[in-house]
Amino acid sequence: MTTYREAYEDWRADPQGFWMRAAGTIDWVRPPTVAGDASRPPSHRWFPDGRLNACHNAVDRHVAAGRGEQVALLHVSAMTGQEQRFTFGGLRDEVARLAGALRALGVARGDRVVIYMPMVPEAVFAMLACARLGAIHSVVFGGFAARELAMRIDDARPVLLLTASCGLEPGRVVDYKALLDRALELASHRPAHCLVLQRPQLQVALEPGRDLDWRQAVDAAQPADCVPVGSTDPLYILYTSGTTGKPKGVVRDTGGYLVALDWSMRHVYGARPGEVYWAASDIGWVVGHSYIVYGPLVHGCTTLMYEGKPVGTPDASAYWRIVERHRVRTLFTAPTAIRAIKREDPAGEKMRAHDTGSLRALFLAGERADPDTVQWAAAQLKVPVIDHWWQTETGWPMAANCLGIEMLPVKPGSPTRPVPGYEIVVLDAAGESLPAGTQGALAVRLPLPPGSLPTLWNDDEGYRRAYLAEHPGYYTTGDGGYLDADGYVFVMGRTDDVINVAGHRLSTGEFEEVLAAHPQVAECAVVGVADELKGTVPVGLVVLKAGVQADPQALERELVARIRDEVGPVASFHRCLVVQRLPKTRSGKVLRATMRAIADGRDYAVPATIEDPAVLGEIASAFGRAAG
Ligand code: COA
Ligand code: AMP
Repeated sequence: MTTYREAYEDWRADPQGFWMRAAGTIDWVRPPTVAGDASRPPSHRWFPDGRLNACHNAVDRHVAAGRGEQVALLHVSAMTGQEQRFTFGGLRDEVARLAGALRALGVARGDRVVIYMPMVPEAVFAMLACARLGAIHSVVFGGFAARELAMRIDDARPVLLLTASCGLEPGRVVDYKALLDRALELASHRPAHCLVLQRPQLQVALEPGRDLDWRQAVDAAQPADCVPVGSTDPLYILYTSGTTGKPKGVVRDTGGYLVALDWSMRHVYGARPGEVYWAASDIGWVVGHSYIVYGPLVHGCTTLMYEGKPVGTPDASAYWRIVERHRVRTLFTAPTAIRAIKREDPAGEKMRAHDTGSLRALFLAGERADPDTVQWAAAQLKVPVIDHWWQTETGWPMAANCLGIEMLPVKPGSPTRPVPGYEIVVLDAAGESLPAGTQGALAVRLPLPPGSLPTLWNDDEGYRRAYLAEHPGYYTTGDGGYLDADGYVFVMGRTDDVINVAGHRLSTGEFEEVLAAHPQVAECAVVGVADELKGTVPVGLVVLKAGVQADPQALERELVARIRDEVGPVASFHRCLVVQRLPKTRSGKVLRATMRAIADGRDYAVPATIEDPAVLGEIASAFGRAAG
């Protein structure tokens, strides 16, 4: 039995050897002879001379190893009431045929393919089909609006778009095709074709010449084999919110990613091949990429893909019913989902009506897991509830209680200790390492481990600027927090303008761009305000142009609708207040953190650099609270 300390020291003593050994659990067409390669900064490249294929590792190799009859993908839809099962053999056939269809449409190694799809099995086929051909997929979350999709299309410049006629949200059918059409009107890049999956809930018109019917294309296709690629070839681009309005194209390599995921499945999650692993997230987020698609499949688990919500589809026992029915061993979701369930089933009666005994643990990530939620879930489920900390950029956890190594004591409010591969430090503004218990910027000593981003798409300079420049020798996570005397990590929140709304990462800068474009708005700020269910929700504050008379309620409705139309419903933007002025420093910097404290009713110190302290009282009354 290895202890956490031994595993961590094992990595620290010989990172190259550690990762070379880990690389032995995946299939290579040409095995690597070296682990890390620092010769091409800013990227640190992993297994540079290795060659492999991600789809082979996720699918074909399990068929070759005799797992062809095991269920690989189990799709459960609370929206349609249907379940679908695909064995590894069946998944291979589906993916090979779709890859053949993509190849017939000209998709080849290195080409980009944008996938804008709801939670249907075909979305997983699509990702794997791209990987099979060595093409680079870029999945865009369905809750984003057309403008967001257009920005990603223009940056990735795909040869092909894949979509479905609709997504199913409670009480409404979301016309994905209409959103895609609108995005293509806004985008300057034009892919040659769109492949459209018609779902029974909505049949959409196809544009002759450009759009093709998914099923017809697949029926006419010849299966395609896996194309070997270099370990450092990109597997995908996943856009994520940063400080500016423009999303950042996080690049994921192939070899390092698969090695890290396979290692994490075993050592972080404690999962074994053949088990049912359920990440209740969406393929549009990093959790979906790593732990709905690649991680569980590469590890030979059955991955459960869920179309539905934790509550309301139909009720708060939706998760537990599925756990019982499918003997789920690992469940992974966002704290928000558990808060939503707790709100409707505080005594856990609906939970206890189901046998959740198959569960080994519940993992939480995507936002801060508040101690109440962790403790409630642990008391009800009677299994470890494991908070773990990571981000789109890293692709897998930076801090966790590594269940597959050794379960350490849980400290609610902490995602436990750094995962082997990550040396986490806390830095002050001058880049000095801070002692235990002192809050600062959470950073990771370079090089980042396999699986973490090597760069941003077509933007090495942006990568350097956003993550490496602030503290030379370290990757800046964008989160603030501290380490305690036992080395436990405490993540206190973002230090930039990124907010986490119901576990969804969004940029207040992006919202501000939309509000500022309104003809009556002179200036604006958006702050993330504490919310019992969603953790944080964005609230806008706008100052009107001189001489403009506007009805605040009507303007709020208009601005809320604009954010919904331009960012998407996932923004959960419902409040926008008209104020006379914004609190600023003498150099003109808007004091967002102070406004956040006012909105949350927390104590705050009046910043010494404030231009006019009286404005804080105005903001407090706008939020309907007493100042201070
Ligand atoms: N396509 C289109 N619209 C979508 C969408 C998608 N894939 N996902 C969400 N939306 C829409 C919703 O329909 C909703 O629209 P509405 O304002 O018209 O109701 C809006 O975006 C906000 O959605 P959501 O964040 O799901 O909030 P909700 O109020 O509908 O539900 C929760 C609240 C807590 C149940 C929900 O947020 C949840 O399940 N959270 C868990 C999050 C999660 O798994 N995160 C992944 C990181 S691990
Ligand atoms: P995303 O890139 O969407 O995965 O969001 C990453 C961000 O979510 C991180 O930078 C954190 O701010 C936040 N986050 C994710 N997991 C946790 C966690 N376990 N505790 C606190 N914050 C978290």
